[in-house]
Amino acid sequence: MHTGYQSSILFLQNYLADAHIVVNQGGTNSGKTYSIMQALFCFACQNNGLVITVAGQDIPNLRAGVLRDSLKISSEYEPVAKCIKSYNKTDRIFEFHNGTIIEFKSYDNAQDAKSGKRDYLFVNEANGVKWDIYSELSLRTRKKIYIDYNPNCGFWVHDKLIGKPDVQLIISDHRHNPFLEDMEREKIESLKSEDEEQWKVYARGITGKIIGLIFNNWHICEAIPPDAKPIAAGLDFGYSNDETGCLMVYKQNGELWIDELLYEKALTNPDISERLKAAGLSKKMEIVADSAEPKSIEELRRLGWWISPAKKGADSVKISIDILKRYKLNITRNSVNLRTEIGRYKWRVELSGRTLNEPVDHWNHLIDPLRYVALNKLKISNLVQPKTRFPYTPRSLEGGMLQELI
Ligand SMILES: Nc1ncnc2c1ncn2[C@@H]1O[C@H](COP(=O)(O)OP(=O)(O)OP(=O)(O)O)[C@@H](O)[C@H]1O
Ligand SMILES: [Mg+2]
Repeated sequence: MHTGYQSSILFLQNYLADAHIVVNQGGTNSGKTYSIMQALFCFACQNNGLVITVAGQDIPNLRAGVLRDSLKISSEYEPVAKCIKSYNKTDRIFEFHNGTIIEFKSYDNAQDAKSGKRDYLFVNEANGVKWDIYSELSLRTRKKIYIDYNPNCGFWVHDKLIGKPDVQLIISDHRHNPFLEDMEREKIESLKSEDEEQWKVYARGITGKIIGLIFNNWHICEAIPPDAKPIAAGLDFGYSNDETGCLMVYKQNGELWIDELLYEKALTNPDISERLKAAGLSKKMEIVADSAEPKSIEELRRLGWWISPAKKGADSVKISIDILKRYKLNITRNSVNLRTEIGRYKWRVELSGRTLNEPVDHWNHLIDPLRYVALNKLKISNLVQPKTRFPYTPRSLEGGMLQELI
């Protein structure tokens, strides 16, 4: 079939793969998700009455990633677009004229995954999906299973699938994706000088064991509690190749509650102002912003925002991390990009294996604004001092104790 697709090598690899299970392990932006979806849209156009299930960790993740790319694929390529009868936004289902459907779903538990059967299954970012859910889905898949993920640690794919008969492994990285801008490539490669282990995982697609994650005190919540007290918004300015990140921080019950408002590239200051308005931020709410951009701060102030520079100092990164570590951090499920960043935010590790006292300067466009709020709004005096385990009674070593020991 002539698809009209502009495709990378990964598309044909996946489209022509003949194993029952096709595992796409890879670095970030290698084109895994896009290529697998292109293959699935082909199968959908070519075969009557298929059921194709795309499963992910949760709906916000699907929406921000694979679903967005699917909408692009489905409308961009004429031969594919012509085969599609409708897209139901509420149920997230593409229906084709030939009776085939592509559905996007997430499953709460294994029981939930027992409902329905399918011809093709795609498990997107599979390290966010539990083995027992995958297992139930795979039992009810007649033809082929695609799986993709970044290998930041070993998980059930490595333990139970790779190396077994009828399982094909395709490893890819950004060099296999001709559609990526050079700036993106450079950003991925720059990990090498910061953190070799992350570079292996995200630039080369090699299974790693990321150690030294900074935050393990965070949880997903469904919503901000209605009685949570707003503390402030945090804002980090991006530019053409970095995202501008903004989030809102609340406090309730001694815990922090965090909601992502904005994560987008190439925004001017008037754009930021519009986006913040659209995200529902009030001009009466204080925004703590990156103090390295006084001009942008002033511009937003003139647009009517209450905006203050973050108090940066020599040790501000370390201090703000220390403050944030003292709280339980509740992050809304919709904060997809913050969840990704916080799951990757780690201390730098030298080639020798020594962990440094500074974070890897990557994936921090929402972490930084969170730190700004911590610096300006969460007082250090609130910190609970760790208690020493044993009471310390100073004693002179002269005479007494030393002699007792001899
Ligand atoms: N065939 C294609 N045509 C146009 N754009 C493409 C194509 N393949 C990939 N891209 C672009 O490259 C970007 C990265 O691709 P994709 O999201 O599939 O990578 P990935 O390997 O799934 O990355 P991650 O591991 O971070 O999820 C996409 O957002 C898309 O814009
Ligand atoms: Mg992907």
